[in-house]
Amino acid sequence: MNDIVGHALAQKDYRQIHLARHLLPFEDHKFLKPEDARVIVRGKGVHVWDDSGKRFLDGLSGLWCTTLGYGRPELVAAAAAQMEALSYCSQYFNTAHPAVSELSAKLFELLPSRYGRILYTNSGSEANDILIKLVRRYWQLAGRPEKRVLIGRHNGYHGATVGSASLGGMKVMHELGDTVLAEVHHIAEPYWFGYQGPLTEQEFGLHAAGELEKKILALGPDTVGAFVAEPFQGAGGMIFPPSSYWPEIQRICDKYQVLLCADEVVGGFGRTGHWFAHEYFGFQPDVLTIAKGLTSGYVPMGGLVLSARIGDMLAEQGGLFAHGLTYQGHPVAAAVAVATLRLLDEGGVVDDVQRILGPHLQHRLRQAFAEHVLVGEIQGAGAVAALQLAPSRGSKQRFANEHAVGLYCMRRAQEHGLIVRTTNARVIIAPPLVSTLAEVDELIDKLGAALDDTARALKMR
Ligand SMILES: Cc1ncc(COP(=O)(O)O)c(C=O)c1O
Repeated sequence: MNDIVGHALAQKDYRQIHLARHLLPFEDHKFLKPEDARVIVRGKGVHVWDDSGKRFLDGLSGLWCTTLGYGRPELVAAAAAQMEALSYCSQYFNTAHPAVSELSAKLFELLPSRYGRILYTNSGSEANDILIKLVRRYWQLAGRPEKRVLIGRHNGYHGATVGSASLGGMKVMHELGDTVLAEVHHIAEPYWFGYQGPLTEQEFGLHAAGELEKKILALGPDTVGAFVAEPFQGAGGMIFPPSSYWPEIQRICDKYQVLLCADEVVGGFGRTGHWFAHEYFGFQPDVLTIAKGLTSGYVPMGGLVLSARIGDMLAEQGGLFAHGLTYQGHPVAAAVAVATLRLLDEGGVVDDVQRILGPHLQHRLRQAFAEHVLVGEIQGAGAVAALQLAPSRGSKQRFANEHAVGLYCMRRAQEHGLIVRTTNARVIIAPPLVSTLAEVDELIDKLGAALDDTARALKMR
């Protein structure tokens, strides 16, 4: 094997090294086709290029993270300057550094005023992992240590570590057996297209939220410490719940004194045209987990944002919250995050998503695809959307081989030079927040070509 890799390296055959050496995220290696492997060598603006020179429009912002696009000189300069000034500094031993303090000052200027403290991490998974400990610690300090249970949702995604995958409801991630922690439970997702019963959409939203109340009552309100969910499901298929859902969830959490924890890893930092997706939906979480758009994906960073009430209790009541990461509040990540937030805020990017980019994208999607033979539903707001591929419009029917249909469409999009992702038969779109209107139109054209190809392959036209 080393010979193969050595030879490949000499030839700069990165595909070969990739296939020989890497264990890839969410792939069954047995079915990987060498010819499908891509080597991406360059990115600028909203485009990336592979090693053959082919250009792709990035319709997914990397993995929902490169909100400012690729190659932004301001972010490069911020990272370089910070590496020169202070390349590493921990937050251990009661230590601060300018970059992380500036970041927190800027972040809390943008967050709703109920939030008071942040614990930095390197990823969304870590933030959600630590959330489990945080919830238990909070209830210990509040004198109710029995409130240890956390409730998540089926088909929710909160990360890939044992704790975060436990909170998530991805069946495939629970198949190793002990990967759902004890005292973590799940309720059904608010997936309107997947619902076949007699309720209206708004009734269904209340019904789906009512699952939480039922679960709390079944487990005992005295044992339930938190409910954890994405404001809209990202990896689960960009599923937007009916508008009746979140107010009812809020009412239930308030009634039973259950902490409401919003995973803003995908929805945060302008994606919906609001700074945070919970603001778009109009509810008030106690805790937020953030990552991805915090640094526009240039360097890893995440965090756990606590309401002032929770943060102050942890800080003021004393006792050790036994937690710490070597790279927590890393100076380079913090400097890039400060530069990112400034561009999003003072550069007017989030404002533009709300006023210009979002309305244009949402309008163009509906104009181009609402009547498409393969499209059963379009959901989304701001710079995020999903198209549900379906065998017949208007019936909420679903393909038996949803996964294969979605994958085919995703591959066709790639052929046409567009990167999007699918979850089952939902096509997920989340372009960089700095996309121009012409780039949105390019996305619509390429996506249309992929949908037409898929419809033809399915003999629907
Ligand atoms: C909603 C949500 N939470 C958490 C995560 C995990 O973040 P990370 O991959 O940075 O660990 C993801 C990743 O896609 C996500 O979509």
